[in-house]
Amino acid sequence: MSERTLVLLKPDAVRRGLVGEILSRYERKGLSIVAMEMRTIDGAMADQHYAEHVDKPFYPPLREFVTSGPLVAAVLEGDDAIEVVRLLNGATDARKAAAGTIRGDLALSNRENLVHGSDSPEAAKREIALWFPNLH
Ligand code: TYD
Ligand code: MG
Repeated sequence: MSERTLVLLKPDAVRRGLVGEILSRYERKGLSIVAMEMRTIDGAMADQHYAEHVDKPFYPPLREFVTSGPLVAAVLEGDDAIEVVRLLNGATDARKAAAGTIRGDLALSNRENLVHGSDSPEAAKREIALWFPNLH
């Protein structure tokens, strides 16, 4: 079933010049980019995006990181896009992420792990509305 998911290429991906490499992986898999924007977010936007994590101990440095420079937000579309993106992204802790995944091949941190992908249909709906309120 075709669905949409929200992806972030976080500030480390932009700083390291990996935007093309990462988008290319999604595209080669067969997912389509239906919206995309580069922007630098403030703490309030970070708090909304990561609402489920704001009270966790790892959140303050995560908030600092995601607001530290421009990121690329995109909506990707395709069969089972939510699950497929998370498979391509790999495990949260990039040190443990499988080789062949974006995090496994390109990152070495549990925080600066290059990418975000929505983790459920409900999260995708909420996150797409938050980042792309004019997308229908
Ligand atoms: P989470 O939603 O658990 O991971 P994912 O991005 O794979 O859905 O956590 C959100 C982000 O928070 C994660 O990408 C990196 C950061 N994070 C930490 O910095 N430390 C941690 O211990 C965890 C679990 C996450
Ligand atoms: Mg998550």
